[in-house]
Amino acid sequence: MIDSLRCEQANATLLYLEYKGYHWNVAGALFHDLHLLFDDHAKTVLETIDPLAERQRILGAKAEYQIAPLRRYAALSPDGPLPDTPREMVERLLDAHRQVVRGLRTGIALANRAGDAGSADLLTRTLLVHEKMEWFLRELLEGRSALLAEPVEPSPAGPRSEGVAQMGL
Ligand SMILES: [Fe+2]
Repeated sequence: MIDSLRCEQANATLLYLEYKGYHWNVAGALFHDLHLLFDDHAKTVLETIDPLAERQRILGAKAEYQIAPLRRYAALSPDGPLPDTPREMVERLLDAHRQVVRGLRTGIALANRAGDAGSADLLTRTLLVHEKMEWFLRELLEGRSALLAEPVEPSPAGPRSEGVAQMGL
């Protein structure tokens, strides 16, 4: 049971960082919508971490907090370069949620077999949150496919020099 809680805590930590990375780096026609959606989901994922860690303490185990062991415990491995398009960002996140959902279902079955109603309830509440985010991303992929295919190309860096000059800098 501890392994399952630990894995989901680690998954949530990595998924939070992935969402924030896309929140910061997304660009293109859907920038505003995706920038806000990724941040909203990042906050939602962040809120799941604390109860998963505290449940481990309640069951008598240590709660991990350092990056290296969290990476080891996680089922997700969001490595590699920044996606080229918003579509790829959404697809990667969708895959991540699907993987987390599978892990949560396994954890819930485990908790039920062990008679651990508290962990089963926590994992079920976490599952509902991930299923909802998965639904949002799925709808986005189906509804905005052409716009999502535009490459992520950052705009030229910094404020324009005349703007800076006007500010007296
Ligand atoms: Fe932000």
